[in-house]
Amino acid sequence: MSDVRNENNLVDIKNLKQYFNVNVGFFKSKPLKAVDDVSFSIKRGETLGLVGESGCGKTTVGRTILNLYKPTSGEIWYDGKLIKSPESIKEFRKKATMVFQDPYSSLNPRMTVSDIIAEPLDIHNMYKTKEERRDRVLQLMEYVGLNSEHASRYAHEFSGGQRQRIGIARSLAVNPEFIVCDEPVSALDVSIQAQVINMFDELQEKLGLTYLFIAHDLLVVRHISDRIAVMYLGKMVELADAETIYNRPLHPYSISLLSAVPVPDPKIARANKRVVLKGDIPSPLNAPSGCPFRTRCPYAKEDCALSMPQFKEVEKGHFVACHHIEDVNA
Ligand SMILES: Nc1ncnc2c1ncn2[C@@H]1O[C@H](COP(=O)(O)OP(=O)(O)O)[C@@H](O)[C@H]1O
Ligand code: SF4
Ligand SMILES: [Mg+2]
Repeated sequence: MSDVRNENNLVDIKNLKQYFNVNVGFFKSKPLKAVDDVSFSIKRGETLGLVGESGCGKTTVGRTILNLYKPTSGEIWYDGKLIKSPESIKEFRKKATMVFQDPYSSLNPRMTVSDIIAEPLDIHNMYKTKEERRDRVLQLMEYVGLNSEHASRYAHEFSGGQRQRIGIARSLAVNPEFIVCDEPVSALDVSIQAQVINMFDELQEKLGLTYLFIAHDLLVVRHISDRIAVMYLGKMVELADAETIYNRPLHPYSISLLSAVPVPDPKIARANKRVVLKGDIPSPLNAPSGCPFRTRCPYAKEDCALSMPQFKEVEKGHFVACHHIEDVNA
């Protein structure tokens, strides 16, 4: 990726690594490379979708960007500033937040809706009077389509979809610019997923938000994302405009993910290349040498075991990490 900073970028991630030390026996530990040398940017006002199978490192990317985990190495730049010093992290925390995957475990069931939503305001001293606090809570509830009568009720009284709305209102409390949405609809009934995604879309318009929108399913991010990044075993393997990822993915892993997505028009389905994977995803504790995808890739050759392919811009705005793009897409 180019080193010259683009003014339109709100977030710039450079060579981010997050290794966890895990015990593998008596007094023995090993680094688990949850995120391994990932670089990308997010433009102001855009939604970058981040997809990949469970365990590939999506949540860790999100949490590390927000400095909920200290990065093992690499840089996080926000609005042109390096987020590293305690002061820069403190400032950044007011501008960037997260919406969590599970609305059941992320909200305290014994707190009222009003106190849950106001907690970040309390922490950051963001009001002067009780009335101001109440008015802000009501405004936030309105943003997410919750009735003001719900304010004094308890989180456990609500359905999954409504709880997720409470969680979103809470995330909006500090008036953030950037939100990491970590599979915010995965735990919800399919029937309400679309409603909640549309709400994210409307909030983005209204409040000028920028999203990193994580999902394990390409269908979920299709409509909300401007661009989509695909991860596999701690690495980013492809990044392009959402439409390009859907219509002309180049990495065999992205092609395989897309093969699993049902296509309504059978003519398009036939035109799409299909890649069926062998075996299971390896453990990140024993990641293959070279290209991490090689144990499942139908196109793997000897050199795939020797070196990790570079994440290269193969056409404008389209990045792919594969040694044999020509063969895959012949
Ligand atoms: N705090 C942690 N300590 C040790 N390993 C972790 C921790 N968090 C995540 N992992 C491991 O890192 C890998 C990536 O996890 P995660 O980021 O949660 O993936 P995803 O969100 O894509 O499902 C997994 O192998 C997971 O077990
Ligand atoms: S580098 Fe080799 S193993 Fe990796 S995706 Fe490309 S062809 Fe497959
Ligand atoms: Mg996750």
